[in-house]
Amino acid sequence: MTDSETADPFGLTDRVAVVTGAGSGIGRATAQVLAAAGAYVVCADVNGAAAGATAESIGKSAGAATLDVTDRAAVFALIENTAAERGRLDILCNIAGIIRTGRVLDVPEADLDAVLAVNFKGTFHACQAAARIMCANGGGSIVNTASGAVDTAQPEIMSYSVSKAAVVQLTRNLAAEVGRYGVRVNAVAPGLVRTAMTGRHYLRPDGSMDETARAAAEKPLRRLSPLGMIGEPEDIAYAVRYLVSDAARFVTGQILRPNGGVAMPW
Ligand SMILES: NC(=O)c1ccc[n+]([C@@H]2O[C@H](COP(=O)([O-])OP(=O)(O)OC[C@H]3O[C@@H](n4cnc5c(N)ncnc54)[C@H](O)[C@@H]3O)[C@@H](O)[C@H]2O)c1
Repeated sequence: MTDSETADPFGLTDRVAVVTGAGSGIGRATAQVLAAAGAYVVCADVNGAAAGATAESIGKSAGAATLDVTDRAAVFALIENTAAERGRLDILCNIAGIIRTGRVLDVPEADLDAVLAVNFKGTFHACQAAARIMCANGGGSIVNTASGAVDTAQPEIMSYSVSKAAVVQLTRNLAAEVGRYGVRVNAVAPGLVRTAMTGRHYLRPDGSMDETARAAAEKPLRRLSPLGMIGEPEDIAYAVRYLVSDAARFVTGQILRPNGGVAMPW
């Protein structure tokens, strides 16, 4: 029985999803949440062992793949093979991402290139591969990952912010082009979420937690949040689940901000 028949607009029964960055943090939580909603999830990550661990945590409704999203041919192969093997492709979540810090005056070109290659071009490759299939099949939903960094101008994260601003515009342009084929394209722009990425603010070199550094790093953002909250990966995963489900069938080209209210653009 399909979710339309059971009148659960948030259900994902029988949907086939590819999630990049599924080996850690927000990507792992998203893979788990989509699978719990009924989807079959291909967990893809450059860290193949981590992708495998996520798939194992889900069980038989998940598969794992080692994928570097900067490798255009590999991205196309994974997405095309998934659609061919599973007979459909309903959902793509582009969550893989990296950050490099440094003042604009000092950023090495190689750092800028690396961040753009993963965050923007990796998202572009996967969007192109998946949207071609979804358009031909008459429907699908893509969710990209921007960041609260697009709403402010924080020092020392220019490469990252620019890559995420590019993801926002890619999302809007693609949504405008593929809506007529029943394909929706949205993005999430998370606020600060506790993951390996943000651990750079408070993890010691040996990987252990420095609670004092963590409290200091989180304090200013807590103060900016009307909820006084820092996010957990699940807070973003639930937003993604909404966007890929039929509950969001009237929603495309939008940037959803699970950010504790830190930024409230119109
Ligand atoms: N954590 C936050 O506060 C926060 C806030 C806003 C946006 N984001 C975005 O959310 C996404 C997930 O971040 P996270 O916080 O879960 O970080 P994370 O470091 O926990 O997870 C990122 C994952 O991406 C994978 N990855 C990196 N390069 C890759 C590549 N070339 N190909 C495939 N996989 C690759 C990593 O192996 C890792 O598993 C990123 O796009 C990040 O920019 C995070």
